[in-house]
Amino acid sequence: MSAVLVVHGGAWAIPDKLAKASVDGVKAAAHEGFLVLKRGGNALDAVEAAVRAMEDNNVFNAGHGATLNTDGEVELDAIIMDGRTLDCGAVSSAKNVANPVSLARAVMEKTSHIMLTDRGANLFAESIGVVRVPTETLVSEYERTEWEKHKNYVTGVNEDFNCQWAHDTVGAVAVDCDGNVACATSTGGIRNKMVGRVGDSPVIGSGGYADNFSGAVSCTGHGESILKVTLARLILSHIEQGKSVSEASQVSLQHMGDRVRGAGGAIVVSPSGQWAATFTTERMAWAAVEQDVLWFGLDPNERVKEQLSQ
Ligand code: GLY
Repeated sequence: MSAVLVVHGGAWAIPDKLAKASVDGVKAAAHEGFLVLKRGGNALDAVEAAVRAMEDNNVFNAGHGATLNTDGEVELDAIIMDGRTLDCGAVSSAKNVANPVSLARAVMEKTSHIMLTDRGANLFAESIGVVRVPTETLVSEYERTEWEKHKNYVTGVNEDFNCQWAHDTVGAVAVDCDGNVACATSTGGIRNKMVGRVGDSPVIGSGGYADNFSGAVSCTGHGESILKVTLARLILSHIEQGKSVSEASQVSLQHMGDRVRGAGGAIVVSPSGQWAATFTTERMAWAAVEQDVLWFGLDPNERVKEQLSQ
């Protein structure tokens, strides 16, 4: 079978001034992740590479470019999951780490636990030699300016999610040539969140889930809403009941809107290589690569095709 990789750069009301950089960023990340698959790498390596690319790009709210909490600190959440074994690793409220997705993978591979939080996540990072980066290097000029402007959480949330409920999250899902799926999600959370607030992203079944029997999902959007409906698992249970990846994403996001007035987005891939990128916010930058074809979009129903060079 042929491998597929899909990425998102967050579902929210992306302003025009960030539109091109967001689209360029997801295209580059999808390319990066797909190269791993093309060279025979597995789905887990591919999603980690794609998410790292977006964590290193300060147009996105993850790693560099992350949002600030009420105290002006960066607290990072991330998850990674292997659909072959259901092994999973996550970190929440991690500080001074450039690539939380790789720290999450280390939690999965080097500890007996699934999630490490706050001081524990940082102590673990230090113990395995992860380089500590100064907070200032993670904060973009855009974020500093926006944070100064919006000192109030609710106002910021309403504006950024377009009156449904901010600068949100990155993620990747992939299926490799052996039919193994994986997901990864990483975020700085929501601007002006309380110190210690943890959103959906690092929570298994909410911000992401991967199971070779049904598929892999990475979610984005208003974390408290996603947590209430356990969005990633909800999408996969619709797939298990026979819905296509696209229908399953649509009904689940619709349910989140109807039930808790939450908006967001999701990328999904099935073990057979079906994929979808769906959102109920104003915009979501996404890109997908299958068989050397790159698909991408930003606005609702936008789906642009580009042939990748062999
Ligand atoms: N979806 C990211 C968050 O709410 O933290």
